[in-house]
Amino acid sequence: MTNARGTKDREASAPSWRPAELDETKRLLEQAGLPADDLDEGLLEGFLACGPVGEPTAVGGLEFLGRHALLRSVAVAPSRRGEGLGQQVTRELERRARERGVQHLYLLTEGATAFFERLGWRTTDRAQAPPEIAGSTQFSRLCPASARLLSKALSTSPARGESPR
Ligand SMILES: CC(C)(COP(=O)(O)OP(=O)(O)OC[C@H]1O[C@@H](n2cnc3c(N)ncnc32)[C@H](O)[C@@H]1OP(=O)(O)O)[C@@H](O)C(=O)NCCC(=O)NCCS
Repeated sequence: MTNARGTKDREASAPSWRPAELDETKRLLEQAGLPADDLDEGLLEGFLACGPVGEPTAVGGLEFLGRHALLRSVAVAPSRRGEGLGQQVTRELERRARERGVQHLYLLTEGATAFFERLGWRTTDRAQAPPEIAGSTQFSRLCPASARLLSKALSTSPARGESPR
């Protein structure tokens, strides 16, 4: 199946997720215009990637902050956009957060609000951010004040019929 723009079938195959490596992740984030300055080996434990090592097609990560978590650094290689990878990495990170018992996920974005809203995320007043999120480096230093804060409540068990992707 192709979509209206003739891009590849985004339901075709589930990517194989692997731990992300530091250099490849920083490169892809920089290419996508996302901040990567605070990324180190410790933080990288919450990150995943798909595609060849050294040349990932998609990356994304979870930063666990107390009872909450920040979903961050979702980036797809420019040549592979529109194939469903952005949605799949987001859903996989949500699944992993749920598995860890996180009830509320947050993210900051400048240009992809509509992308996440389609996945059930809602714009949230930055002033309402929990202190753990407001104190994160992304929130307080790396993402500009113009970045939108979005949140999503996660049910503790996946809804019946919800796609595991
Ligand atoms: C946003 C991003 C991750 C989407 O990845 P992707 O693999 O191209 O997205 P998918 O193929 O899963 O979904 C494509 C759909 O999302 C829409 N979409 C993609 N990027 C979008 C954006 N920035 N804003 C709104 N909608 C967007 C497409 O128009 C498409 O819609 P369609 O189904 O009606 O054709 C990718 O464009 C990217 O890496 N952007 C730069 C980094 C970024 O902004 N990350 C998000 C903040 S963490």
